[in-house]
Amino acid sequence: ESIRLFCPATVANISCGFDVLGLCLDTIGDEMTITKTAQKGIQITRITGADLPLDVTQNVAGIAAQAFLEQLGTDQGFAIEIHKKIKAGSGIGSSAASAAGAVFGLNALCGNPFTNKELISFAMKGEALASGCEHADNVAPALLGGFTLIRGYEPLDVIALPVPSELYVTVIHPQIALKTAEMRAVLAPEIPLKNAIAQWGNLGGFIAGLYTEDYNLMQRSLSDKIVEPVRSPFIPGFDKIKETALQNGALGAGISGSGPSIFTLNKGIKTAKKVAFAIAENYTETGIPFEVYTSPI
Ligand code: HSE
Repeated sequence: ESIRLFCPATVANISCGFDVLGLCLDTIGDEMTITKTAQKGIQITRITGADLPLDVTQNVAGIAAQAFLEQLGTDQGFAIEIHKKIKAGSGIGSSAASAAGAVFGLNALCGNPFTNKELISFAMKGEALASGCEHADNVAPALLGGFTLIRGYEPLDVIALPVPSELYVTVIHPQIALKTAEMRAVLAPEIPLKNAIAQWGNLGGFIAGLYTEDYNLMQRSLSDKIVEPVRSPFIPGFDKIKETALQNGALGAGISGSGPSIFTLNKGIKTAKKVAFAIAENYTETGIPFEVYTSPI
C-alpha cells in the first residue's frame, strides 16, 4: 500500500507576522511517495532534485516521520521517496514541505489517527533540524492550506484563517541560498516598543482584512519595521524588486520566510502576472539567475 503526495511550498511571516503567520502556495511544491514496508521504522529510499541526506536522523522528513511513529507506537514500517522541486535555502518552506508531507502521508496510510492540526507538532521536529528552531509558520500552512496564524506556541494554538478569493501570490526566487538558522542569528533579541506597536497593529489589521476581504486594509497592513530592515541587505536587489512590485499594483511585498525569495500579494491573477513580468524584467539586471512563480493560495 502506498500514497503519492503533493507537498506545497509556503510563505512564512508575510511581513507583519514574523514566526506566526504563513500561507500555502497551492501550485508550487515537491512530490513524495510513501510505501508501507515489512521492515519496522522509517527508511528514506530515494531523493531526487536535491543533494540531501538519506540518513533518517539527518533528514527533516525522517525526523518528522519518526516523531509521528513514536507517538503512535506502531510496528508498521514505511519507505519514503522524495522528489524535491523546492530548493533548500530558498525561503519558500523547502524543509517544511518535506516534514509536513511525511507526517501527512504516514497519517493517511495509518487511517488518519491524528487531525491535520495534531500533525503540526511532529512536522515541527523536522523543521527544527533545518532551522535550529521549532517554528510552525511554514509547516502549519503546508498541513492546513490557506493562511494560518500561530496564536501561541506554548501550548501550540493554530488558527486557520479565511482566504480572500481574489488573492494571488507572486514569488521571485533568486538562486542564492540563505540558511534560516543564520538569518535568525542576525536578528536582535529585543525590539523597541514603538516597533512592537506598529507590528501588532499591522498583524491585527491584516487578519481583519482577510475576514472582511478588505484589500485596502491588507495593503495598509503589509509592513515590517523589525525583521525586513535587518535581513533585506542579504538579498541582492530587494529594494528595487519591492519598489517595482508596488509600482505595478501589488498590495505588498516582502521577504518570504528567511529569504532570499521575495513574495508579493496581489488582487487578481492579472495583477499577479503583471507584477511577475515586471520583477522578472527588472531582476535580470542583477545577473543572478532566478525563477518567478505565480500561485493561488
Ligand atoms: N519565521 C521563520 C523565519 C520562517 O523567518 O525565521 C523561516 O522560513
